[in-house]
Amino acid sequence: MEPRVNVAVIYYSATGHIAEIAKEIAETAEKAGAEVRLRKVAELAPLAAVDANPAWAANAAATADIPLATAEDLIWANAVIMGSPTRFGNISSQLKQFLDTLGPVWQQGLLADKVYSGFTSTGTLHGGHESTLLALSHTFHHFGGIVVAPGYTHPDKWRDGNPYGTSHYDAGGTQPVDDTTRAAARAQADRVVKVARAVRAGSAAGS
Ligand SMILES: Cc1cc2nc3c(=O)[nH]c(=O)nc-3n(C[C@H](O)[C@H](O)[C@H](O)COP(=O)(O)O)c2cc1C
Repeated sequence: MEPRVNVAVIYYSATGHIAEIAKEIAETAEKAGAEVRLRKVAELAPLAAVDANPAWAANAAATADIPLATAEDLIWANAVIMGSPTRFGNISSQLKQFLDTLGPVWQQGLLADKVYSGFTSTGTLHGGHESTLLALSHTFHHFGGIVVAPGYTHPDKWRDGNPYGTSHYDAGGTQPVDDTTRAAARAQADRVVKVARAVRAGSAAGS
């Protein structure tokens, strides 16, 4: 029997693009047989800033029921897939703040030996897809994670073209998450589940 894998999909999203990709990844991982937790990180911006932007306010309302991520979600997971919009070529402060709360569990070695993978979304075509995903992976390396990039391991990866992780281009907020991005997200989720399962099977055989 295939080993069971737990997948935590943890994200920050202001105007909803990352939230959409996160949902696609979570649903795909579930279809692949994983136990899935879909979690958002806490908003740090003032409520007035959120309310002043209709897309931001709409996403906050639409995702109000999604639980907030905790350190326990990572401890529980065999694989963690994290997403953040590009912010000046880097991850958002909201996701970074969550990562910065993980020091105590990191220190106990509880974040190591898991599969990690990332996804992003940008407003411009060359505005930081790769730099954001690589920045996110810095933290995965510090955790002692097994970083799983999608590469070009699936035909759909030749469509979105980003081997570092799923990345969407929202064209200044005018381009909703489309089939190219969703297909890349599904390929990434399937690959993460497959590798996490192999890691679990290997560690069970080795123990
Ligand atoms: C403060 C700020 C900084 C941003 N920096 C970049 C950037 O460096 N490059 C880029 O292409 N888009 C940038 N964007 C656009 C977002 O990354 C893009 O709209 C993303 O798809 C939003 O994801 P979300 O809808 O999940 O919040 C920035 C947006 C904000 C608000």
